[in-house]
Amino acid sequence: YVIGIDLGTSAVKILLVNQQGNVMHVISKPYPLIQIKAGYSEQDPKVWVNQTVAGLSDLLQDFSGDVKDIEGISFSGQMHGLVLLDENDEVLRNAILWNDTRTTEQCKQIYEAVGEDRLLEITKNPALEGFTLPKLLWVKQYEPDLYSKANKFVLPKDYLRLALTDMLQMEYSDAAGTLLLDVGQQEWSKEICDLLDIDINICPPLVASHDQVGTLTSDIAERTGLSKETRVFAGSADNACGAIGSGILEEGKTLCSIGTSGVVLSYEENNDQNFQGKVHYFNHGLADAYYTMGVTLSAGYSLSWFKDVFAKDEDFEQLLGDVGTVPPGANGLIFTPYLVGERTPHANASIRASFIGMDSSHEQKHFVRAVLEGITFSLYESIEIFRKNGKKIDSVVSIGGGAKNEEWLQIQADIFNAEVVKLTSEQGPGMGAAMLAAYGCGWFDSLQECANAFLQEEKKFQPKSENVEMYQKLFSVYQQVYPQTKELNE
Ligand code: XUL
Repeated sequence: YVIGIDLGTSAVKILLVNQQGNVMHVISKPYPLIQIKAGYSEQDPKVWVNQTVAGLSDLLQDFSGDVKDIEGISFSGQMHGLVLLDENDEVLRNAILWNDTRTTEQCKQIYEAVGEDRLLEITKNPALEGFTLPKLLWVKQYEPDLYSKANKFVLPKDYLRLALTDMLQMEYSDAAGTLLLDVGQQEWSKEICDLLDIDINICPPLVASHDQVGTLTSDIAERTGLSKETRVFAGSADNACGAIGSGILEEGKTLCSIGTSGVVLSYEENNDQNFQGKVHYFNHGLADAYYTMGVTLSAGYSLSWFKDVFAKDEDFEQLLGDVGTVPPGANGLIFTPYLVGERTPHANASIRASFIGMDSSHEQKHFVRAVLEGITFSLYESIEIFRKNGKKIDSVVSIGGGAKNEEWLQIQADIFNAEVVKLTSEQGPGMGAAMLAAYGCGWFDSLQECANAFLQEEKKFQPKSENVEMYQKLFSVYQQVYPQTKELNE
């Protein structure tokens, strides 16, 4: 067996997977967001560790086999979160998470110091509030005493792995989201550190996602019931793990993953494409490969926001139950999902969402369909950028909340104008983490071979030409909403 641990934003999900790729057990342990001010989003790293240890211990309690047969563990993690450590590897403050937007000022400072073009050349990405470097600069500026005690910074799953093994490392796919990595060269950028007066020694040593970093500490082995010899592998960023767990491991493969945020992600063989920073360009969890990605900040979140505000007593199944009776286009009702700002393509933390085209005949189900379509339009904007840059996108694997409803899968096929594939008992990033452990343990010669053995397609959704045409028209209206409303919150 192997264990995949996905350290998410709302919970840690732990999967026990056997050699055939079957998921034998799933445990999820939640933790809260700490939001003391608008735009702030933090978590206590110790809580991640305690909940993971509790989850592993529950898992082991239900496990009737020999613990020595659990050969390896690896990780998937929410990206970009800043965890600051002192010289004894003790946490100095709460982690500042990917969805925290306090750092607009620091993003400007990065552009001023490094220059927009040079930043793009080195990191392949623009300076966005969610990334790690602006958070590091924020702490340096507003909490200087604390910053002076900082010896290293790590990302969320790297901290969890450190707590489990006592080994401090970071791996390339997550380091790519810090804005401190030279993404093409796969090394920390001394140039960026120097220009921003950051000591490069604050950056931890780098390893590959499938590298073994160590084994469990005696204390963790005792608290969880796992063997001290269990091999621990570095793991990947959650989006890279989502890609691995969906078989996005060769050119031409694209993923749509809808969770709290939503991403469209496409495999890149090389580091020499130029998307002008319009989409993220990160190192993959597959060694020396890359992926490009667009992010919709409020994807699943838009739907849960709608449910909480307008349909508190319904569950998601009830909420989506009538969507199929509403025609594509929701009778002219359009939703833009900018509830907490947007990343791709607008990179604007202050824009807000809208419903337009309301008609007195619209019922709740029309609003629900418009929300699904609006989220999907937002993701389609990334697909358009990929296509305009010459990428061929004919088929998209859909995972997460967006793959749980067949009507929504058809909406994706029609809006993306591509075949949409649903996988059998899909487990998202946690499966990618388990696959990194399986490959690391030597069960397979490559991650691709592991994907062939572990992943199956359940159903395909083909675009319907009349819907494609209608959605294209609606999309051109959708695209006009942003420029017309962006001043509302400035
Ligand atoms: C990616 C991003 C999110 C988080 C969610 O750039 O910020 O997808 O990784 O966990």
